[in-house]
Amino acid sequence: MLLKTQLSSLKSCNNRVDVCHRKGICKRRLPVTFAVENVTDAIVNVQAVIASASVTEVAQLGMTVQGFVNTLAAVAPEPVQPVINLIGGDIASLITLSPSLPTLARVTAFYYMFLARPSPLVFGFLDFYVFGPLFERANNFASQDFALRGKLGGGNFGVAYEGVQIKPGETIGSKSDLTPEQKKRRVVLKRVNMDKTEDRINFMKGGTMAKGATETGRVESYMCNKIRRNPLAAQCCAQFLGNFIPESSQGAFVKGSQWLVWKFESDSTLGDALDGKIGTFPYGVEEYVLGKVNEGMPVDKRETLVIKAILRQVLVGLRRLHSIGIVHRDVKPDNLLITVDGEVKIIDFGAAVDLCTGINFNPLYGMLDPRYSPPEELVLPKNFPRAPAPIVAALLSPLAWLYGAPDLFDSYSAGVLLMQMCIPTLRGGSSVRMLNNELRQVDYDLERWRVVRGGKYDLTLLDRNGKAGWDLAKKLLSKRDRFNRGRLSVGEALSHRYFNLEF
Ligand SMILES: Nc1ncnc2c1ncn2[C@@H]1O[C@H](COP(=O)(O)OP(=O)(O)OP(=O)(O)O)[C@@H](O)[C@H]1O
Ligand SMILES: [Mg+2]
Repeated sequence: MLLKTQLSSLKSCNNRVDVCHRKGICKRRLPVTFAVENVTDAIVNVQAVIASASVTEVAQLGMTVQGFVNTLAAVAPEPVQPVINLIGGDIASLITLSPSLPTLARVTAFYYMFLARPSPLVFGFLDFYVFGPLFERANNFASQDFALRGKLGGGNFGVAYEGVQIKPGETIGSKSDLTPEQKKRRVVLKRVNMDKTEDRINFMKGGTMAKGATETGRVESYMCNKIRRNPLAAQCCAQFLGNFIPESSQGAFVKGSQWLVWKFESDSTLGDALDGKIGTFPYGVEEYVLGKVNEGMPVDKRETLVIKAILRQVLVGLRRLHSIGIVHRDVKPDNLLITVDGEVKIIDFGAAVDLCTGINFNPLYGMLDPRYSPPEELVLPKNFPRAPAPIVAALLSPLAWLYGAPDLFDSYSAGVLLMQMCIPTLRGGSSVRMLNNELRQVDYDLERWRVVRGGKYDLTLLDRNGKAGWDLAKKLLSKRDRFNRGRLSVGEALSHRYFNLEF
């Protein structure tokens, strides 16, 4: 009965298309509203019929789509008419399951270029060769634009400072209190170490890994710029403002040094939270992350809600980075900021690799923090060829992704994060190193780890709700199999029952 109704509406739509041709109305003067009506009708009909249609019905549907395409082509400007006809014809032939070889080739090419992960055309070719050069020129800072304050951190490749973006004529002392308005202008400035390693000006165009600090700084700048061009990914990372090279020396601003600038997003990292610097974890961040304090709720449930909210944000952020081809490779609590709005922002892209372009990729090396990196230590198997020029790398990136699942590198780090948040004695940074050693001894078999070492740890939070957290941790920390799989991707982790409602 339902099907009949759907088909009759389908026919009436078909009739309308026929009628308008029979009346001989000038194609170009067909009202747009008419086309819009047809679009809606067609979509509704396609959805309704496809589910339970017979061969004749499918054929009719194909004709409807073809009719609709004719109408659309009729109202479209002349130059695009052949394209609409071609695409429409392809869709109609696919619906009726009678595609020609050229149709199949076109559909496959379309899928590969636009919809495969990561899209070679959008996040590879266009991003690298068109949008990148177009937008990167837009940010021009000078050292006079900033007042430096305290040091925030310093790794092998650079030193991060807190700073304030100053207005003309304004002076701000390194220790003076900031007004609320000045606080809004706080930034983080990272000075990249100047090293003696050769700086290959064009090394990124060759698709390879950075050598030394200077090139690492350029890689981080590249990654942050790429993220900035992709609003969904940008939402989950600290806001990158740009970079500059001082033209003269003044204090820490050494002439010729390389500086990267971000908006100051937060005073606290997840590392600080786990260390208890903002109160006992997770209660210290509960109000920020959940927007409320769940006073009176059973302790296990209350803690799990906060941990889940943090982990979910980390996984969503990583999924967005992976969708544009970036694997972070240094996911750890110190590289995750928790803002006062309860958002988790990913930072520190010096070790990241862009598999759309091969930037910072070398099949034999990777930069890693052994506490959080998976046993395989590399994003792609050792025997994977070195990255070709970005244009070729972009074209091949979905195949590389399919073959090597490089994103599973970050999944493992997320698994360590889950263990660390859930097991109180693992929250301090040094105890994670111990966990890493213990896991290696049991060949990353978490069930065995539980039998051999689990007794000394409190696994209550992982065992809640039918061991949901434990099951997720097991699937994130496992070793890859010979097909480079065997571990959940961050997207799969987000669908795990751990994220179901908490009881
Ligand atoms: N956008 C930001 N907002 C607030 N704080 C930040 C921001 N970016 C970085 N930080 C702080 O600066 C520290 C160092 O930054 P980052 O991790 O990028 O540098 P790094 O060179 O890797 O240094 P480290 O080895 O200390 O991690 C972070 O741990 C964090 O405390
Ligand atoms: Mg860091």
